Amino acid sequence: MTQPLWQKSDTQVDARIMRFLAGNDVVLDREFFLHDIVASKAHVGGLANIGVVSADERDALLRELNALAADFTSGAFVLDERFEDGHSAIEARLTERLGDAGRRVHTGRSRNDQVLVATRLWLKDKLATLEALCRRVAEVCLERAAGDALPMPGYTHIQRAVVSSTGMWFAAFAEAFIDNVLRARQALALIDANPLGTAAGYGVNVALDRAHTTAALGFGRMQVSPIYAQLSRGKFEMAALDAVGTALLDTRRLAWDLSLFTTAEFGFVTLPAEYTTGSSIMPNKRNPDVVELLRASYASVAAARTEVEQLLSLPSGYQRDLQFSKGSLFHGFSMGLGALELLPDMLARLEWKADAMRAAIEPAMYATDVAIEQAVAGVPFRDAYRAAAETAASAGEGRTPESSLAARTSPGAGNDLMLDTLRARLSSLR
Ligand code: ARG
Repeated sequence: MTQPLWQKSDTQVDARIMRFLAGNDVVLDREFFLHDIVASKAHVGGLANIGVVSADERDALLRELNALAADFTSGAFVLDERFEDGHSAIEARLTERLGDAGRRVHTGRSRNDQVLVATRLWLKDKLATLEALCRRVAEVCLERAAGDALPMPGYTHIQRAVVSSTGMWFAAFAEAFIDNVLRARQALALIDANPLGTAAGYGVNVALDRAHTTAALGFGRMQVSPIYAQLSRGKFEMAALDAVGTALLDTRRLAWDLSLFTTAEFGFVTLPAEYTTGSSIMPNKRNPDVVELLRASYASVAAARTEVEQLLSLPSGYQRDLQFSKGSLFHGFSMGLGALELLPDMLARLEWKADAMRAAIEPAMYATDVAIEQAVAGVPFRDAYRAAAETAASAGEGRTPESSLAARTSPGAGNDLMLDTLRARLSSLR
């Protein structure tokens, strides 16, 4: 490994202890290395504005930072155990190429604010992706809800309850994912604050151009308390993982429904063939493995969030414990976004089996309609309810699933009204 930035004398650092300190930290730093470089460019610009580096040095540093980003992307530069972490690698490369200009780059900066700014920039990208994916899921659900409102049973306790429709099912997940768009935007708004310039957590005795770095990095605002900049680490990762988690909770529900609906016992849904797998021994099997892994993905996101939360039992100031939040964050996002990416296409292409769903609607499922009609006509609801319970088996006389659905006029329940309302809300979230 190159000498750690903090090594002051020749005393050799014990290799086993170094390995423990590092873990796979430098490998994890690959994930946001480009963001670290972008933040370093902004920092260099700020240093030039206050005369700590000359205009020539600034230009050289920016050129080398761009070259480093290009080499990292092409694979010509590999971020590996030669370096303690990605932050050190940047300084090492600039020093190797530019000498004194490279040695000046860490003026007024600490790896403590460097890791914060890289994480926040990385998360802004990921939350934008999360928002886009949730929006796409909502759009597909809205399209499918408008396309085919086929009657199907509505369940409570997984027992047949009342008439529902595929339109109502899709509209439910449309509304859920519109909420999830909002949650992604709220998390992004929280994270959209620049910690760069807060240094080790106590500010520095040089007038860093924080307005420049804030604008150059596209942050909506500055973090102003240097101590809180450090204390917010872990908290903002949790907020981001919550935003992914809420989308994955809905995904888990949806996947549960589909795993039921694809059984022979329900027989309501056929999944696109590529979303199913076979068995190594049972030639007859077609298994909804993708749906099951979509359901399972929530566990990884929730575990990541819990791991970050558990790390936060800390006093004020930077503590190395926080390093472990990176692995959880990256893993949680990779699992969560990986699952959400599959949803739109699968939802767009799943096929409903209209006959099986219609056949599963029993006459007794109109009993609630009967009781409410009587109540509206003046019979006290409890009396109408008892009467309808006694005649439930014949409640379907003169009724069809379509007539039951068409009478669902309470606000939001009617399909068209519901979909118009949802479309308007989704487009207001731009
Ligand atoms: N790898 C470290 C982390 O993620 C970077 C910050 C190191 N700061 C320090 N004071 N050792 O937390």
